[in-house]
Amino acid sequence: MWQQNLARSLPWSSARLRLRESRPEDAAFVNRMLKDPDVMRFLGGPLSYSENLVRESIVKRSGWMDSLYIVETIAESTSVGHAGILENTNIGESEFDFLIAFLPEHQRNGYGREVLELLRDRWMVEAGRAHCTASVRPENEASVKILVRCAFHRVGEYVDRYGFTRHTYRYENDAAT
Ligand SMILES: CC(C)(COP(=O)(O)OP(=O)(O)OC[C@H]1O[C@@H](n2cnc3c(N)ncnc32)[C@H](O)[C@@H]1OP(=O)(O)O)[C@@H](O)C(=O)NCCC(=O)NCCS
Repeated sequence: MWQQNLARSLPWSSARLRLRESRPEDAAFVNRMLKDPDVMRFLGGPLSYSENLVRESIVKRSGWMDSLYIVETIAESTSVGHAGILENTNIGESEFDFLIAFLPEHQRNGYGREVLELLRDRWMVEAGRAHCTASVRPENEASVKILVRCAFHRVGEYVDRYGFTRHTYRYENDAAT
């Protein structure tokens, strides 16, 4: 399973941040993220899971916890957000999407771009690919900006199952060709 292979290669680090697997003790933090209206505005709205259910999902690696990782600072080991890699067949067969989110107090600090670069580069190495893809709600200005800053270019769009238009983006690793 790609999720297990990927997990074995963690943690991944950038200049300021570390991406690591979630642990049962992260349940309160993950639940806080899922309940925050600002964090979840473009991600299906705040979700009302119990902390116990989140902990159980972490322990069993069930559903979305299978490929959702904690982003923490290297300096303090403070959890600032989470990041994930999700299969998205709306983009194409065997194509993937990146999910990145930070608590409001850790947004607008350049972390989004830093984590997207990390996911982009490490995912292509681990998956043995020379490209990667992503999708975004066009009204999510910060997400569009980090994709463009990380050299993704727009390739199409689709309407998701909630009726929202999502733009699709692609990055080509020119060095690999
Ligand atoms: C999207 C998100 C991950 C971006 O991370 P971030 O660390 O705040 O972004 P950065 O600090 O790297 O900023 C990237 C750019 O977006 C801009 N930006 C940040 N927040 C913005 C906002 N709310 N509105 C408009 N522009 C914004 C920054 O000024 C920066 O622009 P620049 O490159 O011209 O300087 C973050 O806003 C977030 O967690 N949002 C909630 C969850 C979410 O919607 N995730 C995306 C779906 S996967």
